[in-house]
Amino acid sequence: MTTTDLIEYSRLELQKRLDLTKMKGERNKLGQFATPTILATQMLEFAKSLLKPDLKVRFLDPAFGTGSFYSALLRTFPRSKIAAAVGYEIDPDYGRTVIKLWSGTPLQLHIADFTQATLPESDEDKFNLLICNPPYVRHHHLTSQEKHRLIQAVKTTADVELNGLAGLYCYFLGLSHGWMAQRGLAGWLIPSGFMDVNYGKKVKQYLLTRVRLLRVHRFDPDDVQFKDALVSSAVVWFEKKKPPAKYAVEFTYGGTLLKPAVSKYIPIDVLRYATKWTKFPIFFEERGSGQTQTRLVDLFEIKRGLATGANKFFVLTPEEVAKHRLPSKFLKPVLPPPRYLPVNKIETDNTGNPILDHNLLLLDCNLPEDVVMNEFPYLWSYLQTGVDTGINQRYLCRHRSPWYSQENRPPSPFLCTYMGRRGTKNGKIFRFILNYSNATATNVYLMLYPRRALRRALEGNAKLQEDIWHALNRISSHVLLEEGRVYGGGLYKLEPKELGNVPADKVLAVLPETFGKLIK
Ligand SMILES: C[S@@+](CC[C@H](N)C(=O)[O-])C[C@H]1O[C@@H](n2cnc3c(N)ncnc32)[C@H](O)[C@@H]1O
Repeated sequence: MTTTDLIEYSRLELQKRLDLTKMKGERNKLGQFATPTILATQMLEFAKSLLKPDLKVRFLDPAFGTGSFYSALLRTFPRSKIAAAVGYEIDPDYGRTVIKLWSGTPLQLHIADFTQATLPESDEDKFNLLICNPPYVRHHHLTSQEKHRLIQAVKTTADVELNGLAGLYCYFLGLSHGWMAQRGLAGWLIPSGFMDVNYGKKVKQYLLTRVRLLRVHRFDPDDVQFKDALVSSAVVWFEKKKPPAKYAVEFTYGGTLLKPAVSKYIPIDVLRYATKWTKFPIFFEERGSGQTQTRLVDLFEIKRGLATGANKFFVLTPEEVAKHRLPSKFLKPVLPPPRYLPVNKIETDNTGNPILDHNLLLLDCNLPEDVVMNEFPYLWSYLQTGVDTGINQRYLCRHRSPWYSQENRPPSPFLCTYMGRRGTKNGKIFRFILNYSNATATNVYLMLYPRRALRRALEGNAKLQEDIWHALNRISSHVLLEEGRVYGGGLYKLEPKELGNVPADKVLAVLPETFGKLIK
């Protein structure tokens, strides 16, 4: 056994002792979750494979702990190749014992808050290898003063304005930019949350614009090789240099860092466009010649159905219409909500009304109040019932003029029911509806309006319309869910933009071959 192996044993003993002396809450507050030896070793081995063999390493770990990465550095690189090694650790309980453990090695350990440390001035004093498992401290443990200071500091250092919901690890990442030498390499073990959630947008902006992103590895959550704290983690590698306009980043998943189960190169413009990165590399189909994938938004303008502000008042049955003697010129057919729509294909009569068991009509009038009062007394008295019950004061009504007019949502030939649960009879969470009628829809549907080229292809081609509808329904639930979101209680939802992001390959397959040239 070598001396460095022996030190690693002592370090693990020390780590165990420190973990035992601290209450869980205390460890959570400082984000103290140590990196397992095996992963630290793999990270340093991977770093070594990327660095030039003759490089003298200047190593920095901004969240040192007991030094799992430093220990792995000493086991992976010969001492002669280590020009400097610096660590920051905020916890003095760690500091005292840890300094003793590493005495006689090149380490310079600062017992200090890394986020307040003074940046090295010259490039030679900066670091060409930064490896970090930053504290996993969530934003609600940071005071607003601290957040303000950190946001400003990252803005100055990395030219990115982080979102106030970002965890401490995002600030570590941003601040470290100032500590890295040009062309320096960084490897970060961080929660994979940033890949999908809103606050992560700015982290992704940093990774896409300020550095050259090299690789993103995500562990398989079902893999038990690491402790719980690590299963939703990713290891992100980048080089500090201006990124080229076009390149691809290796995304790997599962297995180990050195032997991932899946690996694919994702073009940078696909990453720029993707709202969620956790779908890579599994859900990415490489296409020839770097062509990016066509998405539903390239074929359809997707809008949520209209929000009336009070469906009970504005959406009426024919019996209610007759009772209030409402003039037909202010009524439009509207689809019933999905749960009252047993069919997926809506046929029409020769006036454009849908042929359904339950027909509904939408009240929509743009005439000013005095005209309605003078010319349409029945409609006027119905509207007065809305005034009496305060409907005209509801948020959406109050912001429309007149309050009883509706948004412009012409009927669309395709619709999507964008909320659903698993366990339906046909296993589908979302349904695509084919609409031959003139019925519009309320905001319980997403409406798909074909864009110009598709509209032209569809003119007088009922068969193509049916083919597209079948193709939309062939998009599997898991592809749709990749873009969507799940709420508590197992409710799945797709926002218009998320549906737009869904790959359109199933639809493209039924379109005439010449169509590809016409889109957008
Ligand atoms: C996730 S642990 C990683 C420790 C070690 N590098 C490893 O990988 O095992 C993060 C460490 O950062 C320390 N820390 C938390 N806030 C810090 C700060 N503001 N400056 C420096 N260190 C900090 C914690 O005390 C903890 O030891």
